[in-house]
Amino acid sequence: MDPKTTHPDTIAAQGLGWIDEQTRAITPPLHVSTTYLRDPDNQYRSGRVYARADNPAFDQAEAVINALEGGHQALLFASGMAAATAVFQALAPGDHVLAPKVMYWSLRNWLMNFATQWGLQVELIDMTSPEAVRAALKPGKTKLVWVETPANPLWTVTDIAATAQLAHAAGALLAVDSTVATPLLTQPLALGADVVMHAATKYLNGHSDVIAGVLVTREDSEYWQRVRKVRAQVGGTLGSFEAWLLLRGLRTLHLRVRAATAGAQRIAEHFHGHRHVAEVLYPGLPACQGHAVAKAQMKGGFGGMLSIRARGGEAAAVAVAANTQIWKRATSLGGTESLIEHRASVEGAGTPAPPDLLRLSVGIEDVGDLIADLEQALAAAHR
Ligand SMILES: Cc1ncc(COP(=O)(O)O)c(C=O)c1O
Repeated sequence: MDPKTTHPDTIAAQGLGWIDEQTRAITPPLHVSTTYLRDPDNQYRSGRVYARADNPAFDQAEAVINALEGGHQALLFASGMAAATAVFQALAPGDHVLAPKVMYWSLRNWLMNFATQWGLQVELIDMTSPEAVRAALKPGKTKLVWVETPANPLWTVTDIAATAQLAHAAGALLAVDSTVATPLLTQPLALGADVVMHAATKYLNGHSDVIAGVLVTREDSEYWQRVRKVRAQVGGTLGSFEAWLLLRGLRTLHLRVRAATAGAQRIAEHFHGHRHVAEVLYPGLPACQGHAVAKAQMKGGFGGMLSIRARGGEAAAVAVAANTQIWKRATSLGGTESLIEHRASVEGAGTPAPPDLLRLSVGIEDVGDLIADLEQALAAAHR
């Protein structure tokens, strides 16, 4: 199957059409070996030595994700965090990096509390503003700009193409956390990004049963070879079974993303202006920040993540979550089941999440059921 001429739905559904040459199996076997036989003349012609560095269990999932992103190569990691931190660990002490003020909180914490101790100069800025990016870039010193779009938990949108131009003009790479957009709705590499990262834990796997991460590069480079070494040597390597499950999840990615996206749009529109809701945050609403950029940058919808701000403040928000029956009170996103979370309690000090904010991950259930459940939970919280 030629990924350049094949529709992403077909690539996903057939796992790139892979067939095992030996057995004619349509789904790949589970490779669990941690080590590989050396040739009698002391060579490793298979190219495989040890499963911390490389594993045939990764090949197909990496190929599918790479094809969906239109990249040069993909690398699986043990988690989204292992993938994201590898992007920064491949830099050198003293390098200056820009990251958004609004981003996945655990990575922000790592950047501020660990990466800085290793000597990275981390500056958090308003990444949605090209003027702020331009002003913060230090040509020759800034080595990487990190973008998350749409960004947790306010779903702010960053213009990838404009940010890539600015980063490149200053000699910096652009890396994009595209977890929420998925490769079906946004292709950051085609917009000029150098590296794309996904918490594959979320939509790519899609069933809340695997922790995984992935990086995709636009081209081979010295920098990318350092990223490969970080995976092999730091050891944030995915397990074989997780890679196998991830490939199974990828086969329905297009159906799940389409359902979640359509559901989120309907839920956002339904609760926009609702008497118990102060604000709906969703890039698919014309009233929300970044709608115009999202419309141009995201194809086929605005993703399955939104937030609502409950009228009545933190107590009302917590009460809404306490009263849902179908929405599950849990962290994470991108699974088949819808999740609701009071985000400020999770993120703690320094969070950009207002205290009345509930983060919603829309699953693939009946949208009418999801709306009715939120309606009754909002009513119960205001009784
Ligand atoms: C946008 C985003 N990036 C990165 C991560 C980290 O992924 P993981 O939990 O697989 O380490 C998450 C996890 O919630 C996320 O939502």
